[in-house]
Amino acid sequence: MIGLYDRLARPLLRVLDPEDAHRLVIRMLQFAPLPSSAADDERLATRAFGLNFKNPIGIAAGFDKHAEVPDALLRLGFGFVEVGTVTPLPQPGNPRPRVFRLDADQGVINRLGFNSEGAEAVLKRLAARAGVPSLRFSTERQVRGGGIVGINVGANKDSADRIADYVGLIERFAPVASYVTINVSSPNTPGLRNMQQGSVLDDLLARVIDARERVTQHAGATPVLLKIAPDLSLPDLDDVVGVARSRRVDGMIVGNTTIGRPPSARDNAASEAGGLSGRPLFALANRMLAETFVRAEGVFPLVGAGGIDSGKAALAKIRAGATLIQIYSGLVFRGLGLLDEIKRAFIATLDRDRQDSLKDYVGADAASVTAEAWPV
Ligand SMILES: Cc1cc2nc3c(=O)[nH]c(=O)nc-3n(C[C@H](O)[C@H](O)[C@H](O)COP(=O)(O)O)c2cc1C
Repeated sequence: MIGLYDRLARPLLRVLDPEDAHRLVIRMLQFAPLPSSAADDERLATRAFGLNFKNPIGIAAGFDKHAEVPDALLRLGFGFVEVGTVTPLPQPGNPRPRVFRLDADQGVINRLGFNSEGAEAVLKRLAARAGVPSLRFSTERQVRGGGIVGINVGANKDSADRIADYVGLIERFAPVASYVTINVSSPNTPGLRNMQQGSVLDDLLARVIDARERVTQHAGATPVLLKIAPDLSLPDLDDVVGVARSRRVDGMIVGNTTIGRPPSARDNAASEAGGLSGRPLFALANRMLAETFVRAEGVFPLVGAGGIDSGKAALAKIRAGATLIQIYSGLVFRGLGLLDEIKRAFIATLDRDRQDSLKDYVGADAASVTAEAWPV
């Protein structure tokens, strides 16, 4: 049924402007009756940051920016949904067109620039989810409302105090979020990525973790994740992981879109400004994931994102160091069938090796990936 829906919708979506196509998909998810996906194989169950995921495959931030369809996405079979990026105040983002499909490369470039309906509108929607108002403690954090919904937060473009934006968002979203992601890696808000720089990041995370502790009594202990850019230099990554460890974040997402353009990208749209995602990002994102894994030394788990467009690519992410993975651009080209393909690939691997979880694969290739020539 889902496969049919997918096959019918995709040719139509391909002829639309990418942002219009995306709006249409959100509308379909809001209003079309959706069958629930089959229950997941128990061997896909994954525990991370104190949460129990029914499977390790999430939908990345940017797809459901305003929390319009988290429950529909969970029903389709995602193990978790990351809503956002949400900014404190509503803001329109950059002028359109601002999303480009690179068909020849199976990539996407976006320069949306944190178009957000703002915290209040998103909070209202999340609070209206079934049972969420009574979501108080971490054991219930994933059960109420039917699944794991993380909230990705970012600063307003014109904010006078960006750190205060993140602190305020943690305080407001902790009671309704399974986890909160600190996004300092969007390339489309001028200066935002500078917040990954050692001393600024240290100040940011200190204040964010402090805010999390302050609200724990009424909101439960909300895991805090840090989402980074794949464009960091290795010395900068040393600093970032060092700060994340010393400030005791609960995990990292590696990573966001790249401002680089690999020479292999041949679509005309590759010259558009913005962050590149999808297949052309895979090699760099996987390398940065493995580099992060060897620096994190198991202190916290990692979420791998960037260019996953097949079961094989998903498995490579786990083997490079991801406990959980997230997909977005792959869905644009492969449709929802990608989610099932990834689940099937994981299960086939577990069957073949007679394993009962993916745990032992996490980071199995990290050392060899970091020994390869730098991806171009
Ligand atoms: C259209 C679009 C919008 C995005 N918006 C956000 C966002 O608001 N916040 C964020 O942290 N990442 C955002 N991302 C980045 C994704 O979450 C993800 O990190 C990246 O696209 C790499 O994964 P992929 O290759 O599977 O797409 C966006 C990506 C795309 C394609």
